[in-house]
Amino acid sequence: MDDMKDIQWFPGHMAKTRRQIAKSLPLVDAAAELLDARLPLSSRNPELGALTRRKPRLVILNKADMADPDVTGQWVQYFRRQGCAVITADSKNGKGIKGFAPALRELLSDQLAKYAEKGMKGRPIRVMILGIPNVGKSSLINRLAGGKRAKAEDRAGVTRTQQWIKTADGVELLDTPGVLWPKLDDQEVAVRLAMTGAIRDDILDKEALAARLLALLHTAYPQALETRYKIAPDAEAEGFALLEMMAKNRGMLLPGGVPNTERAAITLLDEFRAAKLGRISLEKP
Ligand code: G4P
Repeated sequence: MDDMKDIQWFPGHMAKTRRQIAKSLPLVDAAAELLDARLPLSSRNPELGALTRRKPRLVILNKADMADPDVTGQWVQYFRRQGCAVITADSKNGKGIKGFAPALRELLSDQLAKYAEKGMKGRPIRVMILGIPNVGKSSLINRLAGGKRAKAEDRAGVTRTQQWIKTADGVELLDTPGVLWPKLDDQEVAVRLAMTGAIRDDILDKEALAARLLALLHTAYPQALETRYKIAPDAEAEGFALLEMMAKNRGMLLPGGVPNTERAAITLLDEFRAAKLGRISLEKP
């Protein structure tokens, strides 16, 4: 998916994606929507509900290893209340992956009972993975395929370009995940996605981005800032002043003792993305 990282979404892209999804959906029993557990709403495609219509939906809160476990628990409840099946996963290391097939079986229990009545008991469950770039679609597919990606095969009734990847437990995945666009018109969403590195941050001012992240952390996770950057939880400083504080405390100084806020910004973003500040969620239900 590396080529997807630099995708610039424009209306033509979106129209093509919509068409591809509309074409693929009739082939599957359920849509598996991959979200970033740290920011489930910002990593959600605004049109997915309309695109998948009434297809049963499994929400996978991925990168749960980097998110605040308490907040992730709240999100699980939130999406369940919306009628989705929900699992949490760390697709990089394979944690939570074993819950994938059972969650689908439960979600599709009525349909599976109907198949069984019709004598189609061993029929595989077919699923399409959907999500914005960098949310972990390739990692998840590789994990579900058990490392060795099963050789794709043609099947009657399936378009030649659409192939199925067999996983354990009788679930088959469409080999091409749906790459969705985030809510690009929402500046808040773009900023939060940039904080996690999901979208390129070279279009944004790194220091401004880091200052906003520090402000957010100072409010929601003051302990993390104290532990790593010695910023007192009761420090009465806002965004940019916090960045100066961090630079000073980390000894990042320019000649004349001026805090090197540019270096501090890069360090903060790197360390946050590497989860060195601990497990942090950027959105709560
Ligand atoms: P995509 O297909 O949706 O575009 O995403 P992809 O699987 O390529 O994953 C994007 C990045 O996110 C990768 O990191 C991947 O390792 C990481 N990732 C995916 N799922 C998880 C998860 O559940 N937890 C964590 N911590 N990371 C996850 P990368 O920096 O591009 O590569 P690398 O670090 O694997 O070398």
